[in-house]
Amino acid sequence: MDIAANHWSIIEFDVPRIDLQHRRIFELAAAFDEGSDQIRMMKSLAILCDHVKTHFREEEEMMAACGFPGLDAHRRQHVECRRMLVDLLSRAMDMSLDETADETRRLIGGWIHDHILTADREYAAYMKSMRAGGEPPASAPARRAGT
Ligand SMILES: [Fe+2]
Ligand SMILES: [Fe+2]
Repeated sequence: MDIAANHWSIIEFDVPRIDLQHRRIFELAAAFDEGSDQIRMMKSLAILCDHVKTHFREEEEMMAACGFPGLDAHRRQHVECRRMLVDLLSRAMDMSLDETADETRRLIGGWIHDHILTADREYAAYMKSMRAGGEPPASAPARRAGT
């Protein structure tokens, strides 16, 4: 799945650790555009799932470290995506290569891409603002009393 060169500036936040992990997700998904066989496809899907799970865990650690007030809601989105990935992985053995590739592309190019553009963008802005010693951005979720 190729991301147009001029689209990277929209989905990157100048947070190198996270930007690199996002790039890797799309690179791994790009492998599904090429011809494959069932064994390679399952291996690629398992590697993609592992990378996404690691990425989600690291994001949640970073959000917790900077006190991001939207952590719980963001974590719920990650749980939903992990469930979709595990479901796809469990069904893929009985699917054709084209079906598996299509579903993977839809999940990465749809759900994950949209999550990066919205939810990840929100916490990245918050984290950068807090690191700079500033106030939370106006778009940040409200901090609950006592937190
Ligand atoms: Fe992310
Ligand atoms: Fe995220």
